[in-house]
Amino acid sequence: MAPSSLPRRLPLALRLKRMLPRSLFGRTLLIFVVPTFIMLAAATYVFFDRHWYTVTQRMTHALSGDIAFIVDLMQKSDNRQSTAEVVHLALTKMDLVVTFAPGRSLPDPLPIHGPIAVMLKHALNESLSNPYVLDMTYAPETISVEVGVPEGVYTILSPERRVYTPTTQVFILWMTGSSILLTAVALLFMRNQIRPIRRLAAAAEAIGKGRDVPWFKLEGSSEVRQAGAALMVMRDRLKRQIAQRTAMLAGVSHDLRTPLTRMRLQIELMGGSAETEELSSDVGEMEEMLNAYLAFARGEEAEAAVPVDLAELLNEITVAARRQNPAITLNAPQGVTIILRRNAMKRCLTNLVGNALRYGSRAVINATIDDQTATITVDDDGPGIEAKRREDMFRPFTRLEESRNPATGGIGLGLTIARDIARSHGGDVVLEDSPLGGLRARAWVPV
Ligand SMILES: Nc1ncnc2c1ncn2[C@@H]1O[C@H](COP(=O)(O)OP(=O)(O)OP(=O)(O)O)[C@@H](O)[C@H]1O
Ligand SMILES: [Mg+2]
Repeated sequence: MAPSSLPRRLPLALRLKRMLPRSLFGRTLLIFVVPTFIMLAAATYVFFDRHWYTVTQRMTHALSGDIAFIVDLMQKSDNRQSTAEVVHLALTKMDLVVTFAPGRSLPDPLPIHGPIAVMLKHALNESLSNPYVLDMTYAPETISVEVGVPEGVYTILSPERRVYTPTTQVFILWMTGSSILLTAVALLFMRNQIRPIRRLAAAAEAIGKGRDVPWFKLEGSSEVRQAGAALMVMRDRLKRQIAQRTAMLAGVSHDLRTPLTRMRLQIELMGGSAETEELSSDVGEMEEMLNAYLAFARGEEAEAAVPVDLAELLNEITVAARRQNPAITLNAPQGVTIILRRNAMKRCLTNLVGNALRYGSRAVINATIDDQTATITVDDDGPGIEAKRREDMFRPFTRLEESRNPATGGIGLGLTIARDIARSHGGDVVLEDSPLGGLRARAWVPV
C-alpha cells in the first residue's frame, strides 16, 4: 500500500465508526435489523421478478383473449338476437360489459403508464388484429378497451381486478408487518438482556466510589452473572485487604504505645538534663506519630456511606475551626445532599482547613456542585508550595520544611489521609495556586 493512501482511507473508516451506535442496545439492534431488511429486500425483489410478473402476464393474456374472442363473435353474428346473447354471455361469464357504437370512429390513442398497462398492451397486440385504444383510467376500478371495426367501435369494460393481483399488497403488508413485529419482540427481549449489564456497570462504579452495594443481585445471562460474581469476590477481597492493613496499623501503633510510655516515665525519672530534654521531645514526637497512625487507621474502619447535607457538614467543620482562628469564610450551596462516609470526609476536609489556618492567616472555603461532582476548595493567604513540590506533600510524613520542628508544621500525614479518603470516594485532592496568594487545596467527589 502506498503510504499516501493510508491517511485518506482512515477518515472514512473513522467516519463509519462514528456513525455506528455506541450503546450495546443500539449495536444489537443494528445486528438484528440490518439482516432483516436485507432479507426483506431480497424476498420482495424475487417476488416481483418471478411471481408477480408471471401472474400478471397470465391475467393480461386471459383478458385480451376474451376481448378478441368477443369482438370476433360479435362480428360473425348476423342477427340481433345472437348479438344480444353474446353481450349477455360476456357479462355473466366473463365480467365484461360490451357496447357497440355503429358508424363511430376510433379516438386518438391515450398515453399509458405503469407496468400492468404495458403488459396488457403487449397481450392485446398479440391477440387483436383490429386497431384499439386502451384506457386504464376509464372509471374507478374499470379498464376500457375500444376496438375499431369497419362498422363502428366496440367498447369493452373490464373490472380492474381481472388484471391486478391483490397478493402484491397482501405480500408487502405481511412482510413489513411481520418484520416490525419481529423487531419489536427482539427489542423487548434485548432490553431485558441489557438491563443486568447496566446494573453491573452501576455496581462497579459504586464500589469504585467506596459505596457499599447491598442491592446487587446476580441476574441475566451466564456471562453477566459470572462478571457480577467476579466483581463481588473482588469487592470482598478489597474490603478484607483494607481491613487487614488497618488492623495491622492499629495493632502496631497500639503495641508501641506501651513501651513508649515506659520510656517517657524512665526519662522523667532520670531528671532534667539537656540530653533528656532532647530524648523527651523525640519520644513526644513518636507518640504524636502513633496517634496520627491510629487516627488514620480509625478513618479506614468500615463506615457506611450515608446521605449528607453538604452545607451542614462544611458548617460543622468551619465552626470547629473558628475556635482556633476566626478568620475563616464559608460559601456553600444550601440543600445539597450527597452520599458520603461522613466521618471520613469530615476528617479529610478538616485536615485541609487545618493546613490553611496553620500555614496561612485566613481561609476561604468554597463549595460548588454540578451534575457529576461536588468540589470543595480551601484557599489560604500563606506562603503556598511551589508547583513541583506539591505532589511530594501527599507522601506520608513529608513536610515542606524538613526540620520536624513542631512549631513549623505537623507530622506530615494530613494531606496523605485527605487524599486517601477522597480517592476512596472515587474523587481526589489536588493542590493549586490560590487567588488569595497562598495555596488552594481542591477536593472533589463524584455525586
Ligand atoms: N496550606 C498550606 N500552605 C503551605 N504549605 C502547606 C499547606 N498545606 C500543607 N503544606 C505543606 O505540606 C506539608 C504536608 O502537609 P500535611 O497536612 O500532610 O502535614 P502537616 O500539616 O505537616 O501535618 P499534619 O499531619 O498534622 O497535618 C506541610 O508540612 C507543609 O509544609
Ligand atoms: Mg496538615
